Amino acid sequence: MIGKTICSLVPILLIAHVIHFVGIFSTSAEYQEKYSDCEYIQTQGFDSIGPEDSVFYNKDILITMHVNLHKIFQGLDSIEIAQKGGFYAVYGISTGKLEAKKVQVKNYPDNVFLIPHGIYLRDSNYLHVINHSFYTGGERVDTFKILLDEQGQIVLEYLHFTQMAEKFNGITNDLVFLTPERFLISDWMVFSAPLSGPKDQPIWQKVLTLVIQIFKIKTTNVWDCKYVQGGLATCSKLRNSAGVMINGIAFDGKDTIAATDTADRQIKIFRLNNSNQEIELIQNLNVDQLPDNITYDPVNKQFISAGLNSVYQYLTLSPKIEKIQQNPTKKSIVDLQAKVHTIKLNPTTKQFESQLLFSSSKAVAGISGALIDESQKYLFLTSFPDKSLVVCTRRS
Ligand SMILES: *[C@@H]1O[C@H](CO)[C@@H](O)[C@H](O)[C@H]1NC(C)=O
Ligand SMILES: *[C@@H]1O[C@H](CO)[C@@H](O)[C@H](O)[C@H]1NC(C)=O
Ligand SMILES: *[C@@H]1O[C@H](CO)[C@@H](O)[C@H](O)[C@H]1NC(C)=O
Repeated sequence: MIGKTICSLVPILLIAHVIHFVGIFSTSAEYQEKYSDCEYIQTQGFDSIGPEDSVFYNKDILITMHVNLHKIFQGLDSIEIAQKGGFYAVYGISTGKLEAKKVQVKNYPDNVFLIPHGIYLRDSNYLHVINHSFYTGGERVDTFKILLDEQGQIVLEYLHFTQMAEKFNGITNDLVFLTPERFLISDWMVFSAPLSGPKDQPIWQKVLTLVIQIFKIKTTNVWDCKYVQGGLATCSKLRNSAGVMINGIAFDGKDTIAATDTADRQIKIFRLNNSNQEIELIQNLNVDQLPDNITYDPVNKQFISAGLNSVYQYLTLSPKIEKIQQNPTKKSIVDLQAKVHTIKLNPTTKQFESQLLFSSSKAVAGISGALIDESQKYLFLTSFPDKSLVVCTRRS
């Protein structure tokens, strides 16, 4: 009798767990008290879809990358079609006359894929870029020197790369550099992608990935790596960094590192000991979002994490992808909750705490990150599937 009851309870609990994980019924209120009036940055004459990542170069210029990442990762497009990835920059942030222009990349060969993902600005002058180049070179971290031309526009000059081991193919996500040689990089998927691209991933791996994520088995990590110019980077797992889907990483430039676990709705906070260079986990912070990327805001001395509200909403993205990317208007036209939280140290409790900064269902489709400019006037929202970068304005 008891055996029978347990047997019938198991599937019910399982279904309840899946419903909870997917978040079919989870809703979220709108919150736009601080930033509102979100619009796409207008771009002309170049592709701007999929600006997953951005960095401020200075108080006036923001650099972002673009490539149709959602289509690549969902296997909707082959990597050949998606090859036209690149970079663009937004100028005029301090004067309020925002203007986006394509960034010229010097010394970039035509016959290789440039599928940029996480980007990181080091020492104000170097841009490190995750390059999923699949069968034209495997997983790499490329380094560019940032130059300004006579018109004050960004030019990226390619310098060198470090190769990532095969097990990372297609699945590194974000990175931070602690020194010119030492970087931390996340891998966010259970299985590496085939060299021909995620479109050719075997079905059993996709199914197993879903099962592993639903049961919250921690198979992804932050990796502590040494950049070997022109050679294979040496990497080891960062202690206590295992998560279900480790995704964004940010560094405050001093001693605090934050990494998000999207599927586990958690942010891991690490402390870098500057005397022995060791990194220690100091806190696991639960957040009310699926935290994708995290950035550091030096003005307010806080981290900013951004993400979707539920897995369910993520699953509704692919059917709407053409509508999202071909949207002719200045504002998002599909319902997809974008949530932004600030993560700040409470000096009394010595614990990091999260607070809602922004929540909107019509700001951006598929948010991946958020950044506030130095003057605090703008909140920029990055995304992996949307047609362009989004900018929201501070309410007076
Ligand atoms: C990306 O990787 C390819 C293949 O290794 C390489 O040839 C190319 O220079 C890289 N792209 C950039 C922009 O560095
Ligand atoms: C940092 O490293 C030094 C040198 O190994 C050690 O003495 C110190 O206790 C460490 N600090 C913390 C907070 O762990
Ligand atoms: C996440 O944000 C950091 C800034 O902390 C930025 O350098 C990086 O490009 C972003 N990465 C992703 C994958 O969104």
